[in-house]
Amino acid sequence: MGKISMEEVVAKIDELPAIPALVMRALELIDDPRSHVNQLAEVLSSDQALTAKILRLANSAYYSFPRKVATITDAIVILGFSTLKSLIIAASTYNLLNREVEGYGLAQGELWKHSISCAMTARLLAKRIRFRSAETAFVAGLLHDIGKVVLNAYMKEEFEEILKYVETEQVPFMKAEKEILGFDHAEIGAKVAEKWNFPEELVKAIRYHHEPLTVENKTGKANLIDITHLSDAIVLMMGFGLGVDGLMYPIEEVVVERAGITMNDLNEIGNKLIESLADTELLLAS
Ligand SMILES: [Fe+2]
Ligand SMILES: [Fe+2]
Repeated sequence: MGKISMEEVVAKIDELPAIPALVMRALELIDDPRSHVNQLAEVLSSDQALTAKILRLANSAYYSFPRKVATITDAIVILGFSTLKSLIIAASTYNLLNREVEGYGLAQGELWKHSISCAMTARLLAKRIRFRSAETAFVAGLLHDIGKVVLNAYMKEEFEEILKYVETEQVPFMKAEKEILGFDHAEIGAKVAEKWNFPEELVKAIRYHHEPLTVENKTGKANLIDITHLSDAIVLMMGFGLGVDGLMYPIEEVVVERAGITMNDLNEIGNKLIESLADTELLLAS
């Protein structure tokens, strides 16, 4: 067993496809109050595959808009800028998240399913508890396990050993990753988010999604880390993309309290998710 060096991991992160320039440009335009709808539509239309994915997501049962979203301009008008922004991020990270991640016991498509379910759950949860930005929650849920894509190659080699460690030591999976590789997927995921210039809040949500109590929370209200943690737990409980990350996954009671959610809320979110998920999966599987 050899621990890997930080340089090696950073080199792996650099190998990941960068967020395409046109996606960055589109996200900038959305954030710029002076930009015009036509500019954004023009930028996005230059990538047909991306546009198709955005429209398929927008038309999925999850969003249940009363009328069909046929063009990017429609999407802007019907969905609004902030929802469109998270759809652009989902569509542009689909290929990366849809890979097989054998090192974590995830067949092809399973990490995507886990990630998009978590994103949708985070968005629903954020709305339920009146969190400042439901779309930021969506992106945190979507990318929380992105570090697995980077660590996959190393995990494949040490897989048996890590599983054995979890079993004999009765520790959470992430502790075993850290012990055996020297890094865990949350730390590496945060590095990816930094590389992609995502805001600090998002980097932290990815970094601490398994250990939300290590970050001080003065407000006593659920923050983005808490929402990501809870969404991950809800999705794992429903059995979406369990892999081996779900082994010994501790759900922090304090976080449930801070969010002020009830069993009833959880059931409602779960039902809404099931309703829309099959649809989304089919829509993107092309
Ligand atoms: Fe995770
Ligand atoms: Fe997860």
